[in-house]
Amino acid sequence: MSEEKVKVFAPASIANVSCGFDVFGFAIEELGDFVEAHFNNEGRNIIESIEGAEGLPLEPEQNVTTIAAQALLNEVAEKRGVTFKIRKTVIPGSGLGSSASAAVAGVFAVNELLGKPFTKQELVRFAGIGEQFASNQLHHDNVAPSMLGGFAVVRSNEPLDILSIDYPEDIRVVVARPLIEIETKKAKRMLGRTMSISNAVIQFGNVAGLVLGMTSKDYNLIGRSMVDMLAEPVRSKLIPLYDEAKQATLDAGAIGTNIAGSGPAIFSFCKGDESAQTVLEAFKKVYSKSDLSVTYFISKINPEGAKRIF
Ligand code: HSE
Repeated sequence: MSEEKVKVFAPASIANVSCGFDVFGFAIEELGDFVEAHFNNEGRNIIESIEGAEGLPLEPEQNVTTIAAQALLNEVAEKRGVTFKIRKTVIPGSGLGSSASAAVAGVFAVNELLGKPFTKQELVRFAGIGEQFASNQLHHDNVAPSMLGGFAVVRSNEPLDILSIDYPEDIRVVVARPLIEIETKKAKRMLGRTMSISNAVIQFGNVAGLVLGMTSKDYNLIGRSMVDMLAEPVRSKLIPLYDEAKQATLDAGAIGTNIAGSGPAIFSFCKGDESAQTVLEAFKKVYSKSDLSVTYFISKINPEGAKRIF
């Protein structure tokens, strides 16, 4: 029996990035899931503890971390079970990819215990199985950046094809997170099943524009491409003071503002630290008028993704 213990971190992430519903996502810094893991003698997975979030299931068949990890163990026909300790610093249902970082941390930890049979790129599909359990739908726009870091483009889910694109080094992300919960499952059900051709044409143009804006580091193009005809018009209604916060942040110099994943967190892209601070103050000013509890932070895009701590 291997005595090895590993501890890993998988970062939170922001999916959709306005026009790229289920396609774009980037990793952020600091927040995420820490997982400690070791093989056990029980022949089954065990979750010893979960810190940092209430009410998450300890049953391995119901927990995103262990579901994703088990998918990897099955792939290599590994019969041993793994014991996990989980610590979350990203709140579930906040739009910051909590289930994705949980899935990625589980898979990444087990891959380390197995002696790294898979590359990070290959591990994304196992994490996707955990995410699918959480949201009832296969999407990789949070798990891909959480695993790989940087800005990911999910060109295809089946077969899985993930691309990483460049982005401006001085881009900053400002996040306002109202402390209400929006479940991704529900937010996905809210969206219609079809989109008009005229809206699809607008969306295609913006998707192309956002990719080109990111890779050519053209902030003006990034800003004018951050238009979403699909999710924002429906989901923004669930987020208190969304329109006001968006307008205030744009007036304060944000490059673009939109919903983080399925919300309720809202993010702005800004050019540099000073602008990010001004935009953060603009968010604060809007929400100071409400009784809502809101947390705020500024992050860079995290280039590294999942990492081993020991
Ligand atoms: N692309 C997913 C959605 C992300 O918007 O439903 C969920 O965080």
